[in-house]
Amino acid sequence: MNWTRRSFLTYLGVGSYAALTAHRADSTEFPLSRRRSSPPAWFQPIGPSLADELIVAPGFPVDHLMSWGDDLGSRAPDGTPEKFGYNNDFIAYFPIDALQGGTNSSEGLLWVNHEYPHPLFVSDYSIIDHKAGKKKTAEQIMAEKLSVGGSIVHVRLEANGWKPVVPSRYNRRITAAYPEMTMTGPAGGLLRSAVGSLANCSGGRTPWYTALSCEENYTDFNGTDPKDLQARWADVPGMAIDETRYGWVMEVDPFGELPPLKHTALGRFKHENCALTRGARGQIVIYMGDDEVDQHLYKYVSAESDNPNASRAERRKLLENGTLYAADLSRGRWIPLVYDADTRATIEKSSVFAAAKKADPNLQITNQAELLINTRIAARALGATPLDRCEDCEVHPLDGSVYVALTNNTRHGNLYGHILRLVEDRDDAAATTFRYEIFLAGGPQSGLACPDNLAFDRHGNLWVVCDMSGEKIGKGAYKPFGNNGLFVVPTTGPSAGDAFQFASGPTDCELTGPWFTEDGKTLFLAVQHPGEYSLTLDKLTSHWPGGGNSIPKPSIVAVRGLS
Ligand code: FEO
Ligand code: CA
Ligand code: CA
Repeated sequence: MNWTRRSFLTYLGVGSYAALTAHRADSTEFPLSRRRSSPPAWFQPIGPSLADELIVAPGFPVDHLMSWGDDLGSRAPDGTPEKFGYNNDFIAYFPIDALQGGTNSSEGLLWVNHEYPHPLFVSDYSIIDHKAGKKKTAEQIMAEKLSVGGSIVHVRLEANGWKPVVPSRYNRRITAAYPEMTMTGPAGGLLRSAVGSLANCSGGRTPWYTALSCEENYTDFNGTDPKDLQARWADVPGMAIDETRYGWVMEVDPFGELPPLKHTALGRFKHENCALTRGARGQIVIYMGDDEVDQHLYKYVSAESDNPNASRAERRKLLENGTLYAADLSRGRWIPLVYDADTRATIEKSSVFAAAKKADPNLQITNQAELLINTRIAARALGATPLDRCEDCEVHPLDGSVYVALTNNTRHGNLYGHILRLVEDRDDAAATTFRYEIFLAGGPQSGLACPDNLAFDRHGNLWVVCDMSGEKIGKGAYKPFGNNGLFVVPTTGPSAGDAFQFASGPTDCELTGPWFTEDGKTLFLAVQHPGEYSLTLDKLTSHWPGGGNSIPKPSIVAVRGLS
């Protein structure tokens, strides 16, 4: 997600917005530059589009699964009916028989993140209210709190496609109002617990079949910044969040055996996702990006090795005790973020610490817990490389190299973004040194711009969804690309690094959460924030998925027919 898009809303009157969106051209008006290679034989790529539709390459059926507000058939701890949340992002599929060692690809559970609300739709709070300085009510804030977090949805492949199973004993919600959950790891003793979760962007799936849900833009919920429509939870005393409890990674068991936890050993920053693999000794290794301009790439390595024969409750403890590293690309090294006398001295004499201390005189980093709460400061002070907004990282299933989407950095003129490919020394994911290359440079020559979520299929193709900022779609340097889409990028052969478009999303949306079933035949996909630039209910920019005059609704779908 790019927050400039939301800030931008506040500066637009309806008239100026209409002028921006008046041009809706056919894709033939803006062909991409000539490709260097031929598309894969197994699908016919589509072209860019500005249509308010989800368009998928011919021959692949699409099943609508669930939209914001749909009934899950379950009840919250206080007895109220639970609904599918807003702005679905990450999706992870869990075979229904996973805990028995199965790989069922026709029935399973989906964990779906819900990142942030659109107040116009969720709480009936418009940009006009915001500009007038009107405060939100407790009821409006609670509606927004219940719209974020995540959903567990039981799904099944039937004769005519994928369907949600409602009711199901598995279906339930985690929200920002969910009862307190324990915080583990080095900062767990200090922070103890957190109320619910929010800003849930992307995530990961553990080998013991739990979901990791990443809290990204947690700083945008309390404030009353006039540029930020989404904020204002502090409008009502007692409803503001304690920001120290967010910006972490939450672990959720979709099967309901284990309670949700937040793992402080994985650091606190604007977490995008978690890409899990194993080190040479069987350690759990997790690659994680921090999605803000000039922030960093991180890696966590568990202290102990994973024992697949241990209980799930034992295995999850691997996320409580380990080493967090930050990437120094200039020297190809992973910097351990470990508190000791040397690191304390380096941090305290750094300019980043001095600047942070000026803003918050109470800031101190005197132990590992405080270092993790202030992960960014420690990483920068110790030499981590500033990057162009880390979105997803994913590990190549065939060669173990790590692909990292750097979506863009308009501060430095990187408008199209790029994808790094990082190779650990000795092919050990737990190594402390690495090499890297630019796998793909965004732009008309490669076929995509602003890469965000990544997923690999079983054949080693990289699937990339893009997140060009909404106010720029179809304009200027972004004109060749149409709406945000989904692309297939071969990683080997003559087409390696060339993007071929598989899907195009409706107006204002980004496609998110690509995840394949174990057999690779189904791709789950989320359509996030369609119609985000709707300023009022009578000026909707999208009517997807209902069509006609309906309001837009974030939704998840299943794409079938893959192999
Ligand atoms: Fe929520 Fe980094 O995208
Ligand atoms: Ca994004
Ligand atoms: Ca993202």
